[in-house]
This record gives sequence, C-alpha cells and structure tokens, in this order.
Amino acid sequence: MSRTLALLVLLTGTSLAAVNLKGGAATYTANCAGCHGAKGQGNVGPNLHEAAGWSSALFARAMLKDVDDKGVALKPPMPNWGKIGFQGDKGKAPTTAEIANLQGYLKTLK
Ligand code: HEC
Repeated sequence: MSRTLALLVLLTGTSLAAVNLKGGAATYTANCAGCHGAKGQGNVGPNLHEAAGWSSALFARAMLKDVDDKGVALKPPMPNWGKIGFQGDKGKAPTTAEIANLQGYLKTLK
C-alpha cells in the first residue's frame, strides 16, 4: 500500500516538477534577456509578459517556428531558435523540456 502510494506520488510529481526554473532562468539570461530585458519588460524586443501566458503549444511553436501566437512570422532581429538552437546546444533545435522551463521561468517575471 505505501509502495503504491509512493509510486503515485512519484508519477503525479513528475508532471509538476517537470518545470526546472533554474534551467529556464539560465536559458533566458543567455538567449533572451539582451533583447527582451532582464525581467521580460522589453527592450529591442517586446515585453514577454503576454507571451508567458500563451498555451504551451503556442509558445513552443513560437520558439520552433519563429511565429507569434497568431502564426504570423516574427521579424528579425528575433532569432529563429528552431534553426539555430539555444546557446550551448550546438545548433540543435530547442527541446520540449528547454521550452517548458523557459516559459515556466517567464511566468515568474513581472
Ligand atoms: C536579437 C534580439 C532578440 C533576441 C535575442 C530574442 N528576441 Fe524575441 N523578439 C525580438 C524582436 C525584435 C521581436 C519582435 C518581432 C516582431 O515584431 O515581428 C521579438 C518577438 C518575440 C516574441 C513574440 C512576442 C509577442 O508578444 O508577439 C516572443 C514570444 C519572443 N520574442 C521570445 C523570445 C525568447 C523566449 C527569446 C530567447 C530564447 C528571444 N525572444 C530572444 C528580438 C529578440
């Protein structure tokens, strides 16, 4: 019984713990803060407080396909992350986990 319970906690816990805010912060600082501001308040790029609230599917699409929530192409200098990858990823497209962590971190910015 207690083993079943532990397993249940483990299983439900994974989806909640899936967002790694530290990882998201590191990704944000290295790749986004220069243009979107340390707090996502906007700079060269717009503020990201609205985008933080996009569905995870739309946010992931924005990262991978370089389009906004309506599917409209984002203009340079916004990088196409799906093509160039985040810093340190050697040109590989961002992973689902990286994107979830990044959006999770964005949600904490005010
Ligand atoms: C070199 C500057 C630059 C960098 C670096 C950059 N962006 Fe952008 N970003 C922009 C600009 C400029 C726009 C506006 C593009 C447009 O209006 O079409 C934009 C637009 C966006 C949008 C759409 C916002 C909206 O409300 O429509 C999102 C989301 C976004 N960026 C996320 C990110 C994330 C996340 C990172 C880091 C992984 C990042 N950007 C890195 C410049 C940048």
